[in-house]
Amino acid sequence: MTNPLIIVTGKNGQLGKALQKLSLNYLSLFDFLFVDREQLDLSNPETISFFFQKNRPQYFINCAAYTAVDKAESEKDLAYTVNATSVGSLAKECAKINCQFITISTDYVFDGKASKPYTESDATNPLNQYGYSKLMGEKLALENNPQSIIIRTSWVYSSHGNNFVKTMLRLMNEKDEIKVVNDQIGSPTFANDLAEAILKIISHLSSVNYHLSSQIFHFSNEGIISWYDFAVAIQSLSVLSCKVLAIPSSDYPTPAKRALFTVMDKQKFIHQFHIPLKDWKESLQECLKELGYL
Ligand SMILES: NC(=O)c1ccc[n+]([C@@H]2O[C@H](COP(=O)([O-])OP(=O)(O)OC[C@H]3O[C@@H](n4cnc5c(N)ncnc54)[C@H](OP(=O)(O)O)[C@@H]3O)[C@@H](O)[C@H]2O)c1
Repeated sequence: MTNPLIIVTGKNGQLGKALQKLSLNYLSLFDFLFVDREQLDLSNPETISFFFQKNRPQYFINCAAYTAVDKAESEKDLAYTVNATSVGSLAKECAKINCQFITISTDYVFDGKASKPYTESDATNPLNQYGYSKLMGEKLALENNPQSIIIRTSWVYSSHGNNFVKTMLRLMNEKDEIKVVNDQIGSPTFANDLAEAILKIISHLSSVNYHLSSQIFHFSNEGIISWYDFAVAIQSLSVLSCKVLAIPSSDYPTPAKRALFTVMDKQKFIHQFHIPLKDWKESLQECLKELGYL
């Protein structure tokens, strides 16, 4: 008998790479196909059904996304096509073959005006085009497939690709002093932790031969911090001598508006899957180790 097939998009992204690495531990249970934009281009949704004529997975993890938050303000149609239209099409094709569809969304679906962590059922109100496109992707995935799992995550970083941790390390190596906003509050997510959680969920579902019905979950590392707190921890753990100064967001204007408070409540995820969440600092240490700083 052949193993169930898991297809993963965005193979060169942070989460895609983390899943690729981790998949080596699961080769006795699953076959994997990791695809990049050459094999499946989400800016061209018309090609999606053709891809599914040739590939018939049991699980589909969509890690591909238009993730350039600021650029999305001027490329909103492209962001919408990749993050919404194509996600809807992927979900639809998965539904046709009874495939559990998992796609990743963002804390930026919220407007940040809450005073306590957002639950999955709290009202959404994205402040920027990226958040809007991701929210529409969620809606289309839920509408088009009764087995769509949406995992909202936040502040993703890893030892690969572009992210806050790597940018901070570069700047801290180059400069004596850097300024970081201290009024945007959220929770970081180490891509390795999210990858591990996703493969644990799929392994469990596969072992009981069960597919989850459509729903949203929140996932990040534990802890509530500002970008400034995050930068200070990066600086102190990597023992770089750069000074980190706190500034308000108003001193760091960006094309896309950022929500100020996007902490998500992860209780639903914890109760459903019994997967403990790691503390953000422990995971940051893991990443710095991978980058050769510890
Ligand atoms: N990064 C964050 O802070 C953050 C926060 C919240 C939620 N998320 C969500 O988490 C998920 C994973 O994020 P990530 O940080 O791993 O993203 P990432 O590193 O930016 O990777 C995104 C991947 O999507 C691929 N991609 C972009 N446009 C594509 C297209 N038209 N067709 C096919 N593939 C395309 C990219 O391909 P190339 O390598 O060829 O460019 C890349 O491999 C995404 O859904 C993202 O929206 C991320």
